[in-house]
Amino acid sequence: MHSIEVKNLTKKFGDFVSVDNISFNVEQGEIFGFLGANGAGKSTTIKMLCGILNPSDGDAFVGGYSVKKEPDLVKKSIGYMSQRFSLYNDLTVIENIEFFGGVYGLKGKEYTERKNWVLDISYLKGKENTLTGSLPGGVKQRLALGTAVIHKPGIIFLDEPTSGVDPISRRNFWELINQLSEEGVTVFVTTHYLEEAEFCNNIILINAGKLIAEGNSTELKQNYLEGEVWEIQTDNPVDALDILNKENYVIESSIFGNNIHISLAKNFADKGKINEILKQNNIEVKSIEKIEPTLEDVFIHLLSDKYNV
Ligand SMILES: Nc1ncnc2c1ncn2[C@@H]1O[C@H](COP(=O)(O)OP(=O)(O)OP(=O)(O)O)[C@@H](O)[C@H]1O
Ligand SMILES: [Mg+2]
Repeated sequence: MHSIEVKNLTKKFGDFVSVDNISFNVEQGEIFGFLGANGAGKSTTIKMLCGILNPSDGDAFVGGYSVKKEPDLVKKSIGYMSQRFSLYNDLTVIENIEFFGGVYGLKGKEYTERKNWVLDISYLKGKENTLTGSLPGGVKQRLALGTAVIHKPGIIFLDEPTSGVDPISRRNFWELINQLSEEGVTVFVTTHYLEEAEFCNNIILINAGKLIAEGNSTELKQNYLEGEVWEIQTDNPVDALDILNKENYVIESSIFGNNIHISLAKNFADKGKINEILKQNNIEVKSIEKIEPTLEDVFIHLLSDKYNV
């Protein structure tokens, strides 16, 4: 049995199709990255998978339960951290923990153990009576994750858990996610940070509600780019980008620091041509090198207008 099995899942709001007939599977213990731009349909999908929002069409099986027919059983077997962290800012740390412990019906020795565990992972031992709203973002985020998994669910859904959190806290948070995955928990996570997607075992990309790419990071880099990706060092990346964008062999281009990356048409390998065209425009080229594409290169390529026409 798959940990999560999604079959033709669709959500319409009136005439608007927010999630458009998507299907995929997630295995137990996997860290599964769900990516897409703002408004792509990530939160809507997560809410359906958590049994909170009824699908318009299709179904999904989460821990074996149908989100359409058994949403209450789904809710009991998962943990969910919503996009705006599900904590109450006007409650203290311990009140928040006890609220979630109560919701999940925890009792006795196990309850005490789990409360301590949540305090532990969120570095809040001794700060039980602090008002949650006054906690730093990174700490609040760990507390939100802790409360979401206080009942030890086998599957957790995290909707942009690291947005607005500093890089060190993000890194620590991913260590926590890894730990859970190593313990066999399925982690379904959305993020805008593509370097975080590299930590996922599998990734899918959705755009305007439709699934447009899936695979692990290596597969995505191998399967979805037609040609090579080159990095060009120049003294004027902004103008160089403008000029190269007009060339038909440049599928997509973007600025990375002082360099530009161009994703090329299949079989294009003429560095001389690029040198020449930039020289004609008085732009000095310091180097042109073939590079391993990043996930960002792949996604920019997949989401670019040139690709979609
Ligand atoms: N209750 C609703 N009624 C009408 N439209 C909705 C509703 N909920 C979401 N939508 C629309 O569905 C689309 C997908 O929204 P969703 O929140 O799932 O996107 P998202 O991928 O989570 O975006 P973000 O990265 O900004 O969180 C958006 O166009 C949104 O406006
Ligand atoms: Mg969202």
